[in-house]
Amino acid sequence: MKSVKISASILAADFACLGDQVKAVVAAGADYIHFDVMDHHFVPNLSVGAVVCEALRRAGVTAPIDVHLMVDTPQAYIEPFANAGASLISFHPETVADPAATVAAIRHAKLAAGLVFNPDRPVKIPVSLARELSMILLMSVYPGFGGQAFMPEVLSKARETHAWLQQHQLDVMLAIDGGIKVDNIHQAAAAGCDYFVVGSGLFQASDYRTRVAELRAAAQQSEW
Ligand code: DX5
Ligand code: ZN
Repeated sequence: MKSVKISASILAADFACLGDQVKAVVAAGADYIHFDVMDHHFVPNLSVGAVVCEALRRAGVTAPIDVHLMVDTPQAYIEPFANAGASLISFHPETVADPAATVAAIRHAKLAAGLVFNPDRPVKIPVSLARELSMILLMSVYPGFGGQAFMPEVLSKARETHAWLQQHQLDVMLAIDGGIKVDNIHQAAAAGCDYFVVGSGLFQASDYRTRVAELRAAAQQSEW
């Protein structure tokens, strides 16, 4: 059975009781917590920063936290998030002059690194850079807001990226973020994704455990 990771996007959680919500989805089987950071510049919305990540750790959250930086200056966030207990940091390469240097800075902070690609951006990176990554994250919505509709046109990019990773024997998770639900997760899995960020498709469920199991089962059904 292929390994499928479900990452719960906190953007869809109730921020008034975030610690309890995060603990509940982890207890329900979520593998990762997806921590969306928005600066109101790179995207039109504003969210939360490293102090909230640190608060989750202090509240006893031990699950790995993947930090998705939707910001103009990702370099400035590496050290604060490393100190706040983040596990992986991903950023949009168009926000920096030298993506390899930013990846190196994330690795230097002893964190895993990821690159994120908007729906209209090709995954064009050197193999040498991909070797430094733990994740390539494909956006299946334009970032900025939770609850948007999945864009099936990114599936061809997922297939191509999966084939490219296999061709070069790269051990990099292929992640997808935006509008993932029980009824479409199999399409992303069939296209080669193995890491699924789920916000509203998880937090709006009345029973998190059942929903995580449904998502995982639907993703595992698909054959590459
Ligand atoms: C979009 C964020 C996503 C979003 C996912 O800007 O990067 O992580 O919160 O939420 P859903 O699953 O509701 O699209
Ligand atoms: Zn995200």
